[in-house]
Amino acid sequence: MLKIAVVGSGKIGTSIIKSIIGKYEVIATARSKETLARIKDLGIETTTDNSYAVKGSDVVILSVKPYHFPSVVSQVKSWEGKTVVSVMAGVKLSTLTRITKTKVFRAMPNINASILESSTAVAGEEDSLVTEILESFGKVYWVQEELIDAWTALVGSGPAFLAEIIDALVMGGVSVGIPRDLAYHAVLDVMKGTANMLKAKAYHPSNLRDEVTTPAGTTIRGLAILEREGVKSALMETIEAAFKRSREIGDEIDKGIREKLNV
Ligand SMILES: NC(=O)c1ccc[n+]([C@@H]2O[C@H](COP(=O)([O-])OP(=O)(O)OC[C@H]3O[C@@H](n4cnc5c(N)ncnc54)[C@H](OP(=O)(O)O)[C@@H]3O)[C@@H](O)[C@H]2O)c1
Repeated sequence: MLKIAVVGSGKIGTSIIKSIIGKYEVIATARSKETLARIKDLGIETTTDNSYAVKGSDVVILSVKPYHFPSVVSQVKSWEGKTVVSVMAGVKLSTLTRITKTKVFRAMPNINASILESSTAVAGEEDSLVTEILESFGKVYWVQEELIDAWTALVGSGPAFLAEIIDALVMGGVSVGIPRDLAYHAVLDVMKGTANMLKAKAYHPSNLRDEVTTPAGTTIRGLAILEREGVKSALMETIEAAFKRSREIGDEIDKGIREKLNV
């Protein structure tokens, strides 16, 4: 059975581990006894020894915070022959290649990986094994590395933006008399149903909008407010602002790692 080392068993590392257990042999690493104990309960091999974990594996998933990556690099003697998949924000493929001198991939999942519904972008030379592994926790899209910062803004931060929108709609529901819990479930149903509807019909969102909008009806009154308040442009700018910050942080992170490791 293919063996995968998950280096860094935090929030995203744990989601990944849970999704691949049983499909692959897994060894996971962390620094603290507490984290190792929590992961051991999942029934897999654990260790603080990154060198040992990498040596005995075919594939290595790097899921430490980027500023902890140099300490991992100082421990791992050789990455030769390994397939390395990094989910670390900011660390560029060129830097990963210079450090590991092996086949590297840079992936950006999102928090929905914890319920196996991530939307994961991955950059590198397209590889069916990497697709198969990443599909364990959701959908996989191969992209050029240039898109990873944009993906981080749209898809990485996306759940937070949608959560805000959901919260606002629920408050609107409460404002017109629907009990909070009921409004909350209704909004989640509407979100999910709308996404499924758009997928099923494969048409543009404006088609769906027009289908719902009766002349002189209720929807057009609401749409007029969305227009007046500039909600669409605010959302577009939201993604742009997140993108700029993602690029800024990414550049800082990558530069920091290259300087620290002299690569
Ligand atoms: N969270 C997300 O939704 C998400 C999404 C996409 C990408 N990412 C990326 O994934 C990476 C991890 O994020 P996270 O939110 O999962 O962080 P986290 O919860 O802080 O997890 C980091 C883990 O790395 C471990 N670690 C630190 N130094 C280590 C070392 N030298 N050797 C082995 N393990 C070590 C820590 O161990 P201890 O617990 O023992 O300290 C911890 O379990 C980041 O680079 C982030 O950009 C996260």
